[in-house]
Amino acid sequence: MPKLTVEGFGTFDVPAGKRLVLALEQDAGVDQLHACGGNARCTTCRVEFVAGEPARHTRAEQERLAAKGLTGVRLSCQITCDHDMTVRAISRLAGSGRSDPGPAPADEITPPAEWV
Ligand code: FES
Repeated sequence: MPKLTVEGFGTFDVPAGKRLVLALEQDAGVDQLHACGGNARCTTCRVEFVAGEPARHTRAEQERLAAKGLTGVRLSCQITCDHDMTVRAISRLAGSGRSDPGPAPADEITPPAEWV
């Protein structure tokens, strides 16, 4: 099982292949935002990697980060937990002014992952 470490939250065993956004919420107990429901549109699921940043992106993540001019962050809805990772949860419900974290993301990456 891959280990997910979230600074300030701890280290957690995560089922291999689980979406990072879901692992953050369900396994690590992070109040992670995902305002578009995990569809690579809102970028509120962004995290900073401390270690284990995946080399590959989905095309949707790559295009959204470029469109928003974002660097140094990754979209947790577009990443699967297939190796050990350490991240900072930088986009949380607490302090966001939002009333909820967003619609529940599906179990599989959406839109269907096209790896680049
Ligand atoms: S981009 Fe919206 S939840 Fe990931």
